[in-house]
Amino acid sequence: MKKIPIRLLPLAICFLPLALFAQKTSVQNIDRRVEDLLAKMTVDEKIGQLNQAAGDISTGTDVKQDNLLNQIRAGRVSSVISHTNFSNKITMQRAAVNETRLGIPLVFGFDVIHGYKTIFPIPLAQAATWNMAAIEASERIAAAEAAADGQNWAFSPMVDITHDPRWGRVMEGAGEDPYLGSRVAEARVRGFQGDDLSLPNTLAACAKHYAAYGFPEGGREYNTVDMSDQRLRQTVLPPFEAAARAGSATFMNAFNTLNGVPASMNKYLVTDILRGEWGWKGLVVSDWDSFGETIKHGAAEDDADASAKCLSAGSDMDMAGGTFQRGLKKALEQGRVTQAQLDEAVRRVLRLKFSLGLFDDPFRYLDPKRREQTLEKPEYRQASRAMAAESMVLLKNDGGLLPLNAGGPFKKIAIIGPYADSRGNKDYMSFWTLGLGMRQYDSTKVVTPAMALKPALEALGFEVTITPVCLDAACTEVDYSAALNAARAADLVIACIGERGIDCGESRSVSTLELPRGQERLVQIAARGNKPAVVVLFNSRPLSFPWISENVPAILVAWQPGFEAGNALTDVLTGKVNPSAKLPVTFPRSTGQIPMYYNHLGTARPQTRLGEIWTSGYLDLPNTPAYPFGYGLSYTTFSYSDLKLNKSVINKSETLEASITVTNTGKVAGEEVVQCYIRDLFADISRPVKELKGFEKIKLAPGESRTVTFKLKEKDLGYWNHQSKFKADAGKFKVFVGGNSSEVKEAEFELK
Ligand code: BGC
Repeated sequence: MKKIPIRLLPLAICFLPLALFAQKTSVQNIDRRVEDLLAKMTVDEKIGQLNQAAGDISTGTDVKQDNLLNQIRAGRVSSVISHTNFSNKITMQRAAVNETRLGIPLVFGFDVIHGYKTIFPIPLAQAATWNMAAIEASERIAAAEAAADGQNWAFSPMVDITHDPRWGRVMEGAGEDPYLGSRVAEARVRGFQGDDLSLPNTLAACAKHYAAYGFPEGGREYNTVDMSDQRLRQTVLPPFEAAARAGSATFMNAFNTLNGVPASMNKYLVTDILRGEWGWKGLVVSDWDSFGETIKHGAAEDDADASAKCLSAGSDMDMAGGTFQRGLKKALEQGRVTQAQLDEAVRRVLRLKFSLGLFDDPFRYLDPKRREQTLEKPEYRQASRAMAAESMVLLKNDGGLLPLNAGGPFKKIAIIGPYADSRGNKDYMSFWTLGLGMRQYDSTKVVTPAMALKPALEALGFEVTITPVCLDAACTEVDYSAALNAARAADLVIACIGERGIDCGESRSVSTLELPRGQERLVQIAARGNKPAVVVLFNSRPLSFPWISENVPAILVAWQPGFEAGNALTDVLTGKVNPSAKLPVTFPRSTGQIPMYYNHLGTARPQTRLGEIWTSGYLDLPNTPAYPFGYGLSYTTFSYSDLKLNKSVINKSETLEASITVTNTGKVAGEEVVQCYIRDLFADISRPVKELKGFEKIKLAPGESRTVTFKLKEKDLGYWNHQSKFKADAGKFKVFVGGNSSEVKEAEFELK
């Protein structure tokens, strides 16, 4: 917030009540305008306002040739989803405003997942920065670009927690932790919406997928979810509640069933919790045809039944399915939904359109000049590059192999692997970059490692070769020998391996976390050249690579970094940027350990050694992960000392303060994410072994120390119990502070 100079304070105080009043009247104003309009609408027009039609990303057609324009003119379309063609959007808006009886403008929705025209790192990578200001700023940029291109509504943030990295959509969320997930959810909502939805550079946000979509059985997309209410409330709902409280204008239903009930017709989720307990007032849109899919789930008989069930659960708008168009009027005529329920849903749609300023100026977001001035500004690329570098997690750096500097023992570097220089498959991104187009896109916008790292290393005096083996396909013997030859001719190997961009995201579940397409073997064979290697992973999910973990001295998780992949990688490998990212998800040793997450319950029979029987473990694998939640190295080192609590006993109205001194014990400046966890040692039910309750990212010069203090209140110590009650139990707690979830200092206190 801008500071007001002291001399203007009296003036500000005078105007403050006016400002508050103005805001209040403007909300009332909207409500009044909504009621006026609603009173004029026919049932068909109302049902039309609940219909969202598919745009050119899925139809592939120009609106002048398809039927969409006629549907709009007939008042049957309220919103268009995923339309890229800018002039088409103007044509459609004109039809809605000038050629329908009431002239209600369209609202354009779009999946803005990690950037719009300027592509940022995938959301999971962004979460690895633990830098909420940077995340918010990235969504500000995405919103500015999308809004300038005629979009009004982002289907984002995706705030689903998951414990299963086989699920392809793990890349879209903030990982496994509800506390971190909540902070990220708020940052994204703020980033998209700013504080005024009617500004032409903000978008309405949409928290999705409500709810529990991240827990499909077997990690299989769209599959059944069955979970206790305790887990739902403790683990899944917090980021949704955070998004609601941050003012997310809309929510999206999930595709899945939850305990047998499809999420779109789940009254408990939508009406009781979201609108009831949280008092949230926004619009709920279905996921793609998820109203219609209630029929396929066997939970509704036909369109009328599905319409009745979804509308009366509290869901409002039908995305791309046409179920309401076909079935809602019948449901109304049969008395299965009331006129009042229909009106309430329509009110929410109209309120959204009024808040976006669309009634005041339907073409506010369709200004060709602003579009031209706004898209792909060079500073957006800079922000994307900085964030990509900040998101890269250094997993291993034996012997200080990195950063690479010219004075070191290596002269010749071989950059090998499918992602050394890939120019297709949405590599270094994901298919969720629809602003670039779905199928055809301009891949020259992506900076590959070959384009950036090679010249940068050459400028430092290295000799560099690029051997980008096995693009587009699984690695073969030919690739393996090419990689080995390249490695033999070099002093150091940089292996760029991972996943294809098009294999990340929705409906991209996998059955194994092993490095796909023969790439672990590629590294093994290249290692026969006996040269030290740096493995750079371009990945969208935790992968398992036991041989690499064991044998390769340096490993960097680069994720899918977006347009600036090669530049950001260069910044990190050359030490221009000191890695500071921390894993927002656990990396298991093997697929068989799933579900694996740090905040699990303890067991009554913990395993103390591998293979020990009568304990909870495996005969063939330890219970520990390959890399724990919150983990990540730096080119410097940090020590933690002197964990102090201000009190050893607190009552329910007091605040516990836990302070720790963090020192940069290395030779270069670095940033550290200091993490604070608690454990409720005994409660009415079993509680997790650790739960994140706070974090702070600090920057320290070599030798510098700083004291970081975390404050914990009763609500931080409370939990949802098996009777769906939130409470904090008196008794002993532990507090842990450290640089990841497993290496911590600890102290004990009591809540009276
Ligand atoms: C996805 C949503 C997305 C929607 C629109 C669905 O398949 O689950 O996340 O917003 O499509 O593209």
